[in-house]
Amino acid sequence: MRMKGKRILTICSMLVVLWVFYIIFMAVKNKIDRVNINDINDVVKYIPPKILRTAKWDSSKIPVIVVEEHHEVIPYWFAAAESSLIPIDGVTILHVDGHSDTGIPEVRNNFPLFQWPRSLSQLFTLMQKNDVFVVGASLTGLIKRFIWVWPPWDKVNHDNPHITAYLEIGSTVKLLPKTGQEVLVLCACVTTLIDKKGCYMMNYTSIYNEDFIPIKKDECSFSQNITGIYEEISEGEAIKLLKSGNWIAPGENVILDVDEDYYGCESVFTKLYKSGVKDFIADNMAAIINNMFCSYTVAGEIIADNFYNSVIKIVLAAKTEMLNCRRSTHDLVLKNKCTTYVQLQQNVFNMIPDLAESVKNYKESILCSDNDQINHIFLQGLLRNMVKLTIPQLKVLANVGICLSISPRTLDYQPEMRLCTSYNLPNSTTVSFHSPSTKEIEHRTKRLELLFSAKNLTPKFITITRSVRDGYTPREQSFKIESDIMKVIRSSFLGFEKDMVHFDINLLGGLEGWSGRH
Ligand SMILES: *[C@@H]1O[C@H](CO)[C@@H](O)[C@H](O)[C@H]1NC(C)=O
Ligand SMILES: *[C@@H]1O[C@H](CO)[C@@H](O)[C@H](O)[C@H]1NC(C)=O
Ligand SMILES: *[C@@H]1O[C@H](CO)[C@@H](O)[C@H](O)[C@H]1NC(C)=O
Repeated sequence: MRMKGKRILTICSMLVVLWVFYIIFMAVKNKIDRVNINDINDVVKYIPPKILRTAKWDSSKIPVIVVEEHHEVIPYWFAAAESSLIPIDGVTILHVDGHSDTGIPEVRNNFPLFQWPRSLSQLFTLMQKNDVFVVGASLTGLIKRFIWVWPPWDKVNHDNPHITAYLEIGSTVKLLPKTGQEVLVLCACVTTLIDKKGCYMMNYTSIYNEDFIPIKKDECSFSQNITGIYEEISEGEAIKLLKSGNWIAPGENVILDVDEDYYGCESVFTKLYKSGVKDFIADNMAAIINNMFCSYTVAGEIIADNFYNSVIKIVLAAKTEMLNCRRSTHDLVLKNKCTTYVQLQQNVFNMIPDLAESVKNYKESILCSDNDQINHIFLQGLLRNMVKLTIPQLKVLANVGICLSISPRTLDYQPEMRLCTSYNLPNSTTVSFHSPSTKEIEHRTKRLELLFSAKNLTPKFITITRSVRDGYTPREQSFKIESDIMKVIRSSFLGFEKDMVHFDINLLGGLEGWSGRH
């Protein structure tokens, strides 16, 4: 009996052990499933809970989200869909923007092609850059109608005030000529556009070639039934059609998506060139900044810029003093007693170690190296370039500042600090530039008022993009532009409430923006 009891006890304890293992196994599996496989619902956390609760409780209240770079709207759009503020398969995007942003994304591993993303990592493959997120979101089925309202200053790029294209999107499999490897290629058939009617595919031999190649309809497979309407319309025509009342249907699920570069587009380089900062000096400084500052986050980005700004301020003060000394006398002997450039550099350098110390005290190091000697060499390098610049040039450099090359939320993000000039060169052939006067900004705002106040237009969700870090929106006017857009939204939509506005954490220069940072 005793033996038998012991055996039962052993069996029991083994069962308990197995059961415990099973529980642990399931918990871990569940966690892995949630974290890696089916965590798309976590995207709703992007919208602050208070805003989400209010919007769900009262559908007339509209969340308004402000982001820095345009692809950063993606988590918010999908958060809106995941929390049922908008449907997952029938959204109209009213895209008020200086650019169409309809570049074709790279369909890479894990891309949610023709399916709703199942995980955050799938969703983030849509965030490749600032002009391919619209097509990316369309390929998941989210967008059924995309309307690009373009500004009057972009008229040179349009033959027609309004075009409408019906698209069927599919895919085909091709062999790469060199390796014979099979690749999936996007294709689409377009109807109603007389000059572009037909079926096309991407040039799969070169990702840089953006020309479409005509193909036969039966070469493109449409297994997933992804269809959509694409419209391109002038501001004037959009105001007219919206007023007529039968263009956007009442109750249509609209996301209003405004880019501040609708008002104008400027290259930051122009400012540098105009001030006469020579290319090689800008390049030298850019190289030093890139090697000296290593920030991974937007919080570090602003600390690095503050440090850089303090250095320029010290140089400015010392240089002004030197110039005043030289100007104050014609006596050569006295003049020679003024500081020389070499002394100036050394004086300034001696004033700076304290700053370097203060930078070190932040939680996140923003210097690439913690070796003082190396940092001193970089600092001397910066100063050597700075002391030679004129006062206006130094002011321009301080105003341009230093920043991350791209939003940390971008796919394959590689942190890199640089002069905050963006990539749009003044003589770029692909981007049209336009510098609006204050009067023009006010006129544009009036026109937007006419557009947004149309009776039928009640967006369910609003996204606003600053486009300052990536160098589109005119920086000096960005503050006015944003407050004008907010004013129009407030006066046009009854559902507007100040508490429903959310500013994304990755805004360049924070809430105040770049021009208001110092
Ligand atoms: C695809 O792009 C490559 C590289 O630009 C070009 O040489 C080739 O002719 C293009 N293919 C077609 C079919 O247009
Ligand atoms: C494809 O979608 C369109 C619009 O949503 C619908 O009218 C059509 O019936 C669908 N076709 C198929 C084959 O499912
Ligand atoms: C841009 O082009 C104009 C005229 O072609 C030229 O004078 C100017 O130097 C160019 N600017 C830059 C920054 O290359």
